[in-house]
Amino acid sequence: MTEPKPPLVLMTHTLPAEWISSLQGKCRVLLGPIDATAFAPHLLDQISEAQGLFTLLTIPIDRDILTRAVQLQVVSNMAAGVDNIDIAACTQLGIPVGNTPGVLTEGTADLTMALLLSIARNLPQASHDARTGKWKTWSPTGWLGADLSGATLGIIGMGKIGQAVARRALGFGMNIVYYDTQPKEDIPATLLSIEELLKTSDFVSLHTPLTENTYHLLNTTRLGLLKSTAFLINTSRGAVIDPDALHRSLSEGKFAGAALDVTDPEPLPLDHPLFQLTNCFILPHIGSATYNTRCRMAELACENLLAGLSGKRLPHCVNPEVYRGC
Ligand code: GLV
Repeated sequence: MTEPKPPLVLMTHTLPAEWISSLQGKCRVLLGPIDATAFAPHLLDQISEAQGLFTLLTIPIDRDILTRAVQLQVVSNMAAGVDNIDIAACTQLGIPVGNTPGVLTEGTADLTMALLLSIARNLPQASHDARTGKWKTWSPTGWLGADLSGATLGIIGMGKIGQAVARRALGFGMNIVYYDTQPKEDIPATLLSIEELLKTSDFVSLHTPLTENTYHLLNTTRLGLLKSTAFLINTSRGAVIDPDALHRSLSEGKFAGAALDVTDPEPLPLDHPLFQLTNCFILPHIGSATYNTRCRMAELACENLLAGLSGKRLPHCVNPEVYRGC
């Protein structure tokens, strides 16, 4: 008798071997390129044979791929957000989808504060000026920024990351207001409507997942409510803000500035008009980019994958409806 073959897993990217060592001997892994921007053709060729799919947030997993994956038992996304995956199609096809919540909370909250401080104190411009000969003397009027202490931070989306940002901001002496669909009792913060929050905050930070309801949540009308001195920080998903409205509002000086770790699209093309604005600071989606966080994300994604391959409930499943009736 021949041994049954271990299940086939398509991994859309190459990851460091030590991050995925728990898969060794349990499945056959076919790797995509290190910097894949799309589902690699040699993986697509194998899609009908695959039992597992391990993917990153940059690769769209659409209905077409899913319907071709006739043996698929699990999709494991190495990310907290799952907006790259057609979840409705997965649920309809009975495929559980795993994500990696929790482990990137503190790293993303740290980066949010880094952006907030950078934009409040003009760090990108000051650093550029120091290197390019514009630092002539200690200037009493140069590079003036805004204080955090006593300022109001409006947090849109008071989930795990929003709360971790609130805890940090309280340490800086900020007042916290927030908008969420659920009131949160554990944090000294005031629940407001999104409109009130935008009108009253000195800094606004976005921490919502990207869904049908949050797509372009900040449009021209809502951006128009910001104070002319306010700063906007986004470490969630680019498409939560309408990019054209953002560019228009920033270039017309409707509010003071934006610091973005996420954009729509990603990567932002070099000739994108947002790059022309001095009041817009842009990073290449590095919210969870600490060594420990990325290791933990890969570990959780492997745990989800292995659970799905052996027909067990995923430890972190975004569509638990698939287990109804089990
Ligand atoms: C990062 O943006 C994530 O959703 O994990």
